[in-house]
Amino acid sequence: MKKIKRIGILTSGGDCAGLNSVISSVVAAAEKKGWEVYGIHNGTEGITESPHGYQVLTLKDFCDSPWPRLSGSYLGSLNKGLRIESLEEVSQRFAKGVKDLGLDAIVLVGGDGSMNIVSNMSRCSKVKMIGIPKTIDNDTPITESSVGFQTAVEYCTTSIDSLELTARSHNRAMIIEVMGRDAGHLAIHSAIAGQADVCLIPEVPYSLDGIIEKLKEIKDRGRNHAVIVVSEGCKTEDGYTVSQRSNMVGEKVYGGISEYLNAELTKRYHGMQFRSVTLGHLQRSGVPSARDRLLAYLFGAHAVELLDKGEDRRMVIWKDGKISSVPLADVVKAGTTFVNPKGKYVTTAKALGIYVGEI
Ligand code: F6P
Repeated sequence: MKKIKRIGILTSGGDCAGLNSVISSVVAAAEKKGWEVYGIHNGTEGITESPHGYQVLTLKDFCDSPWPRLSGSYLGSLNKGLRIESLEEVSQRFAKGVKDLGLDAIVLVGGDGSMNIVSNMSRCSKVKMIGIPKTIDNDTPITESSVGFQTAVEYCTTSIDSLELTARSHNRAMIIEVMGRDAGHLAIHSAIAGQADVCLIPEVPYSLDGIIEKLKEIKDRGRNHAVIVVSEGCKTEDGYTVSQRSNMVGEKVYGGISEYLNAELTKRYHGMQFRSVTLGHLQRSGVPSARDRLLAYLFGAHAVELLDKGEDRRMVIWKDGKISSVPLADVVKAGTTFVNPKGKYVTTAKALGIYVGEI
């Protein structure tokens, strides 16, 4: 087994709280083993672009700095998608970059999309790779938790609490749009915690009449305000995606469903005034919660242990209260994890009286 001397760490995809704690954990654990750590700049770009973007990370200059406590990615990240036709060409540049930098292994901190793309690139480069799941969407398969999700849930819940108060003052229904792409985890977790009245997620169809019924029921009880949480990936009632912008490779980025609901509900129901709020990128950048930092430190140290044992192409996971790992191929095969419409979160939301859709 080739002895590891130098590893690279990179963060890929949308940033989230806890990334710097992961980096800190990997640097500390790797330094103990006598390995050098290259922090790769801007996701895979630091490897594929010339000149390469990287810096040596040490306990002294990184772990002792304030960065491990902060959000964002110290190394920069990349969330602009990749055209599938350019994958082969980019993989070749990746292989050359890995060679130029003398990397024996790569730790990728990413979501489901990055796991797929970077695991392909690392296979072509014959470099070892361990993945660490992070995403506010919590849609990376097999692991029950990803770094960054818990902080985002806290942020959304606190926002719901605050917006409920202004809704109460003005007899309004606040429509709060949260991120999550095609998965409703962030929406349903924060809607339950924040005692929302309506929670729409992409996994469950809804009707505008169903929402209005719920609002009427609330008014009949004597309450003149309401909170509606909607996941950005929800479609219009007749199945169209609402999207206002595109990313750098022309893919649609979600956003705008709360305004659609605002317009439609305002037309059809006059019992309350509606206002819509999009929480946006603030969901990604709160102070990392203790839970996210802990997960980050556990995942980072475990990734280094796996590499030290000669493991390759695995992703660390949190499952049944334990840290372990699974083959990356299984993660890629499993695709995205969605909210189970018959699972405990939807069932609990319904039991609490939240309208979750036509289910
Ligand atoms: O995947 C993380 C995420 O924050 C999604 O919830 C959201 O749809 C997307 O990234 C936003 O991407 P961008 O950073 O390109 O605006």
